[in-house]
Amino acid sequence: MLMGSCLQCGSVTLMLLVTVITVDARTLAASDTGAASDIAAASDTEAASDTGAAGDTEAASDTRATSDTAAASDTGAASDTEQLPTNNYQYLDGHQVWRVEEEEGNTTILQQLHVAGVLDVLDHSGPSRTIRVPPESLSEVNYNLQNAGVHYLVLIHDLATYLRDHEVIKLRRGNIGQTCTSSSCPAPLTDAYMTFEQIEWYLRHLATHPRVEVTSIGKSVEGRNIWLVHIMPATTCRGGRSAAVMPRHHQRQKHYRAAKARSIWLEAGLHAREWISVSVALQLIHNMVRECSVGRAVHVYVVPMANPDGYVYTWTHQRMWRKNRRRNHGSNCDGVDLNRNWDFQFGVGASSSPCSEIYQGPSSFSEPETQSLRDAMHQVNSVSKLMLVLALHSYGQLLLYPFGHTTEPAPHTPAMRRLGNIFAQHAKVGSGTVYDVMNSATGLYFSSGSTDDWAKGVLNTKFVYTLELRNKVTFLLNADQIFPTGQEVWDGLRAMIEALTPEKLSE
Ligand code: ARG
Ligand code: ZN
Repeated sequence: MLMGSCLQCGSVTLMLLVTVITVDARTLAASDTGAASDIAAASDTEAASDTGAAGDTEAASDTRATSDTAAASDTGAASDTEQLPTNNYQYLDGHQVWRVEEEEGNTTILQQLHVAGVLDVLDHSGPSRTIRVPPESLSEVNYNLQNAGVHYLVLIHDLATYLRDHEVIKLRRGNIGQTCTSSSCPAPLTDAYMTFEQIEWYLRHLATHPRVEVTSIGKSVEGRNIWLVHIMPATTCRGGRSAAVMPRHHQRQKHYRAAKARSIWLEAGLHAREWISVSVALQLIHNMVRECSVGRAVHVYVVPMANPDGYVYTWTHQRMWRKNRRRNHGSNCDGVDLNRNWDFQFGVGASSSPCSEIYQGPSSFSEPETQSLRDAMHQVNSVSKLMLVLALHSYGQLLLYPFGHTTEPAPHTPAMRRLGNIFAQHAKVGSGTVYDVMNSATGLYFSSGSTDDWAKGVLNTKFVYTLELRNKVTFLLNADQIFPTGQEVWDGLRAMIEALTPEKLSE
């Protein structure tokens, strides 16, 4: 029996954190796409069920108190906020979250069921795995695990109800900022996850900064732009703050034409539900534009929202969506896992079933999102060699270095490990957060067709990582974690770049 496997369910639910999301109402209202009205249209139904579902367990009422406090401090006054209900939990009605004890070996029952599209593996490391099991798979997964003698614990009996109780979405009134000047730019929100419209709004303003170019490197399956932010080296720096003004003709050139020095590449949001990666990328951009310590030495390229369709879908339809929004030919299941679609050892640790969360796609680079990233990375690399590629994901607090398809060491493994330790040391200083530095395949699980393996195996970039951000428990990271996560990553990244470019920085 499923229920028979639940030990201390009530207390375990406390381990999953509450997320309070605040949204800028004016930005939504001003947006030019249909997404805002989708959100509005969905709201009435959800508001009703929210009230009904309110705190019937100890865990729920505890966490509700936390979220009220956070909401109040976010906004100052209750009248400044209103709830923004969404319909992105409905799909998760009846889905359960289980904690499954670790199995030996690399081909486990869980992996087989993941590949088959029967369940969704949520976490990445540790002595056990957390999985999401859809209602139609409950008995199948239970049967398979029991047969294999693998124990599990039901953490959440109904994920939709859980999210309605815990992930409180608020509208926040007010503006993000104004146009950039040569020395300052409006900051992205660091106490609230940003909607797709807010992110585009922010990027539009960022593009007015003289050291920044924002270009579209291609379109997603549904036709949204994939934005690349290029932060050029500062020509002058005063007091650690950027005071550089690039000549006008540089601003009009294609991003990769202006680049001469070495460069670094950051990718975020390839997996739709990993909202923290997008917020952290925006915070890193903001810090790099403000501070000269990094900008003086290298060209920095950032794709803050690599899977825009998926990101929108997690707000409007399905909070736990991971893949892109490809309608798969001949299947009722949508989406390709963009971190399994790259052409390097394609097909290892991935699935050929469209219903799987790790569906690799019909062929390598079948998706416009990965094609656009590939082309832009090639272009940048050919003009100013990429010395560091960092893909931001969540969660697990891990800094992973390639390869993912084999435990055979990749070129420059000792150097990657050394630089990785520099990141971990510096990230820990201010925050105490521990990031474990490890190889993907040995520390995590076999998988390939990812950005990192391609950058290492095809581009031959020396320093390549996937960074699994905070925390160790859930994708649903409370919004008050955005700022400290961004800060610790900034501390770690800055130290890495300084270690790579000492001669430039000591000038
Ligand atoms: N969580 C990431 C994923 O599943 C990890 C990728 C690590 N890189 C790798 N090449 N396996 O996509
Ligand atoms: Zn991911």
